[in-house]
This record gives sequence, C-alpha cells and structure tokens, in this order.
Amino acid sequence: MKITRNASLKPYNTFGIDVSCKHLILVESNSDIQKLFEDKVFDSEYMTIGDGSNLLFTRPFQGTIIKMVTKGIEKVDENAEFVWLKVMAGEKWEDFVRYCIKNQYFGVENLIGIPGLAGSSPVQNIGAYGAEVKDVIEEVCGWQISTKIPFSYKNADCCFGYRSSIFKTELKGDCLITEAVFKLSKKEAYNLSYKGLADELQKENIPLSLQRVADAVMAVRNSKLPDIRHYGCAGSFFKNPIVEKDVFDTLILKFPRLISYPAGDGKVKLAAGQLIDLAGMKGVRDGNVGVWPHQALVIVNYGNATGHDVVTFYRKVQKKVVEQFDIQLEPEVNIL
Ligand code: EPU
Repeated sequence: MKITRNASLKPYNTFGIDVSCKHLILVESNSDIQKLFEDKVFDSEYMTIGDGSNLLFTRPFQGTIIKMVTKGIEKVDENAEFVWLKVMAGEKWEDFVRYCIKNQYFGVENLIGIPGLAGSSPVQNIGAYGAEVKDVIEEVCGWQISTKIPFSYKNADCCFGYRSSIFKTELKGDCLITEAVFKLSKKEAYNLSYKGLADELQKENIPLSLQRVADAVMAVRNSKLPDIRHYGCAGSFFKNPIVEKDVFDTLILKFPRLISYPAGDGKVKLAAGQLIDLAGMKGVRDGNVGVWPHQALVIVNYGNATGHDVVTFYRKVQKKVVEQFDIQLEPEVNIL
C-alpha cells in the first residue's frame, strides 16, 4: 500500500475541491487490508472513497482516506447465456464497461461514461438511461470494518433502491468493498426504454450493436452533462424527489407539464432537473459555482470554488425550488 501524509484531495474528488487529509492510503492489494487492521488505521477517523465522484468536501479531512486501487477483471463462471465477471474494486467503471463491450457482454452499455470505480458502483446503485447496476450485480465482497469480518452479499442482500444500497444505509462507512461479481448476458439484448436513447439511435439507420448503443449513450451524455475532465462536478447534485400521490395531484393542477414517474407504493418521482429549471436556476452562476446550462441537476465548479461556495449555492437552489413547488430537494452527493 502507499501512504501519503498531508495529501491534497484535489485529484481524488471530481468536484476538484482542494482540501487536505492527514493520511491518504492507496490499497494496492487485498492482502493490505489485514495490515490496515493490524495498524489500527480504523481506530481513528477514516473514510473509504472510490473515485470521489459523488463527494463534496467542505473542510479538510482530519483523518485517513482509504482508496482501493486494486485492478483486475476475471471470468469466474460462464454458461450458454451468461458470464460472471469478478472485478477488483479499483477498476475504473468506464474501463469495465469498455471491456464488456469489447467482449460482447450485454448489460452495462447504457452505463458507459459514468465516473467512478467498479467497487463503488453498488454503493449508490449507479444508474442512467433506463439501466441500474443492481440489474447486473451478482454479489459484492469486502470487509466489514467494525467486525473485521469479510462479507459476501448476494444481490438480494444489498437492499438496492433508487441511488441506494445497504452500503449507503445500514453499513454506511463500515465497509471496504474489495470485489464485485457482475452477471452479464452473452445473448444480444438492448435496453432502449429511455426515450432520449431510442431517439438518438433513430437518428441514423445503422444496425444496433453494443458499440452503437454505447456511442448513442455517450452522445446523449455529452449533450447534457459536463465533461469532468474540464469541469468540477459530481454528476447529479440532487436526487429526483419522490412525493406522495396527493402532493403530486395538487402540484400537477398548478403545473400541468410536470414530468413524473411511478415510484411504487402509489408514490410519484419528479424530475429535480425540471423543477430547478422551472424555478429559473438553470445556467445561473454565482462566481465559481453554477447550475450547468444543459442539465439543471448538475452543479459545477467553474474555477477554484471551495466546498463552502458550493454549499451556499446549492442551498440557494433548494430555496428557489421550495418557493416555487414546496419540495425540498435532497443532495445525492455526499457532503463532508
Ligand atoms: N429536465 C428539464 N430540465 C433540465 C433537466 C431535466 O426539464 O435542466 C427534464 C428532462 O427534459 C426530462 C426530465 O427532466 O424530461 C428528466 O431528465 P433526464 O432524463 O436528463 O434525467 P434526470 O432525471 O435529470 C437522471 C439521473 C442521471 C442520469 C439520467 C439519465 C438522478 C439523480 N439522475 O437524471 O444520473 O444520467 O437520469 O438516465 O437520478 C447521476 O446520477 O450523477 C446522473 C447524471
């Protein structure tokens, strides 16, 4: 493992916030984990991170940041229909998706372009363009820090929900994920349920293929989302809010064009981006922080914004949405 004292976290969060931590530990092998326990690393303040694509630091971190950088993709099982791949936690999600496309494994192509690591993909059940990672996860393995016992959770044990899992709720901060096993289809099948993706594919009359679908997803992403190589951000800053049916019924009378999706138990999910847009905040910028002009759900660090600047700004966005719709948006991003 590699240990750095007083490390800057700027390269370790996609928002590009420049704060320090006392120690940064890069875990290069699963065998390092035993050493972390022996060295009592977890006895003082610590946090495990992936690629920092869902984090907003508002102050220096007075403890140890632990990041898995283990790499490897291994085929662990296969039958006529499916293949099971064990992916080390530190593999970039993007590299894993590209590996699947290259090998003609179906199931993650709609999730191309999402920043982050394979090992962190189950934590918030990443999703985009009609797909969610929970649909391809077989099991998630790692160590529970408080008990020092390794775990292997099957899909059903992970309690997946919209942008949620057991790793973000009951076991929050208490897990070091080492590998995830994905079950992918060898049979050609595409998920074109997201209208914007189907529309993009219809623009040209080219036969469907994994690469073609992935290219279309990237075209849709690029038209809406900032390129994190150039702009600091953490994807969607807020979750899409889920409201009770009676709340929705009242709202829709006043705002007939509101977009909604059924969210189970008679509840209704609204599009936070549309609410922010209608509240007049799309493209609004205060100094170094602003709402992305092409997708109002994304807050961008245009320069050297501090975490505090981002917090002040997102509260302003929340306030505008409350004033207009009486809905409190909840950050999707983990604020520290
Ligand atoms: N909309 C607006 N104005 C905006 C943004 C959106 O009116 O500025 C409307 C759109 O026209 C659309 C609806 O709101 O009818 C939903 O928008 P979109 O399909 O772009 O998706 P989203 O709900 O805003 C979610 C995910 C994204 C994911 C997209 C596509 C969340 C919090 N976000 O956004 O995920 O890429 O769907 O599947 O669920 C992320 O999590 O970081 C992320 C980018």
